[in-house]
Amino acid sequence: MQPNFVDEKAINEAYAAINRVRASLKGGAPHYYIETYGCQMNEHDSEKIAGMLEQMGYIPAENKVDADFILFNTCCIREHAELKTFGNVGFIKELKVNNPALITAVCGCMMQQRQTAQRLAKRFPYVDLIFGTNELHIFPQMLETVIHGGRVFEVKDSDGEIAERLPLKRKGGFSAFVNIMYGCNNFCSYCIVPYVRGRERSRHVEDILEEVRKVVDEGFAEVMLLGQNVNSYNDNGVRFPELLRAVNDITGLRRLRFMTSHPKDLSPELVSAMAECENVCPHIHLPVQSGSNRILELMNRRYTREHYFTLLDMLRNAVRDIEITTDIIVGFPTETEQDFEDTLDLVRRARFSAAYTFAYSPREGTRAAKMDCQIEEAVKKERLARLNAVLLESVTGNNDKYLGYVGDILIEGLDTRGEPMLFGKLGNLKMVYVKGSPDMIGGSVRVKVTGTRFNSLVGEIIG
Ligand code: 5AD
Ligand code: SF4
Repeated sequence: MQPNFVDEKAINEAYAAINRVRASLKGGAPHYYIETYGCQMNEHDSEKIAGMLEQMGYIPAENKVDADFILFNTCCIREHAELKTFGNVGFIKELKVNNPALITAVCGCMMQQRQTAQRLAKRFPYVDLIFGTNELHIFPQMLETVIHGGRVFEVKDSDGEIAERLPLKRKGGFSAFVNIMYGCNNFCSYCIVPYVRGRERSRHVEDILEEVRKVVDEGFAEVMLLGQNVNSYNDNGVRFPELLRAVNDITGLRRLRFMTSHPKDLSPELVSAMAECENVCPHIHLPVQSGSNRILELMNRRYTREHYFTLLDMLRNAVRDIEITTDIIVGFPTETEQDFEDTLDLVRRARFSAAYTFAYSPREGTRAAKMDCQIEEAVKKERLARLNAVLLESVTGNNDKYLGYVGDILIEGLDTRGEPMLFGKLGNLKMVYVKGSPDMIGGSVRVKVTGTRFNSLVGEIIG
């Protein structure tokens, strides 16, 4: 099914509103402050909103106190993220008392859940603007209404559209996010994402290539292609491996990364593309979620641990120096001690270079939240601690193979916590610390690994 694109007329209307706001601003430029929770997708949405604000004449504020417009871009993947938002929106009440002209807004995944958004609107009457994930392209009009004294609550039910041509203000640094697709159709039983981000929809290849060429021209060394499940990218029959090859060929691009990949859709074609494309980083984020086949089935993940191990072998055999990272959930409903042991066993064998680990958090509206035998919080916490201990051991043990290794790192910054050390990543995302001068930041150097730290490496510059 072809996705819906926001039509030219609507995008033009957004630009018209941007221009009206810009023309109406009096005095010095107003300041904006955006606080983003959650994943890269949200970070990138915030870059789009920042882009629109800057075209309207706003400039970034150093902190909330100096801001004339504050936006919280929210996440709802786990309960913790939601509680944090309620807390932090509560804090700005005082700022609003001191500065009645301050405009406050809340958007993103958590607001896409209508009841939560209504609860927030009621509890914090000083929030002027609330919108979900389907309204980014009408943000200028909504802000305009608020500037004229209105209060806006706009949470539209929709499978989602694609809006091209909106302004974008990328965060500085080395890496630029480029969306290739939006939404998710997988409905893993624990996950709220398909409900708040709509159905899978892919951008056109040409739009993606044009954007990557632009960011390379702007000087970004690295591009991160973003999608909830990049392996289901499909633009009129062009699938992800083909797209990856096309992006890889763009002149001037040094590092190409992507996330996230669902194990059920990881194809031999993608593995070949990774092996053959010289700019594609030898790294893959491949969330396994659990090591128990029984739990994987209940999670609706549609692969087994055996299949997952087959994928790891396939990747390691084909892609030189590849490192694999993952996500793991503990305490999914009905998880027994044996199921959890299966996860620990998988971790001991899988040789991950890093893992993001989570205690299962029931999300209203998902299938898992309704399952019997929810696991007690104390048990989840205890399992999470045990998992993290096993992971640390496995990740640290894995580092030994790097002693004497020679590779190139892209220097990202200076760590001044102890003796000042430059840090940067190998193509496979292993972090290496080296001695050197701060003027080397942004450059690429060849290093030899001489030691290890918990999940990173120590080395010396050799050229
Ligand atoms: N509880 C805990 N972790 C979750 N994740 C997604 N939904 C939940 C949930 N309800 C984790 C998964 C996913 C990552 C982005 O967040 O591991 O891969
Ligand atoms: Fe959530 Fe599963 Fe979709 Fe990932 S693939 S966003 S875990 S439903």
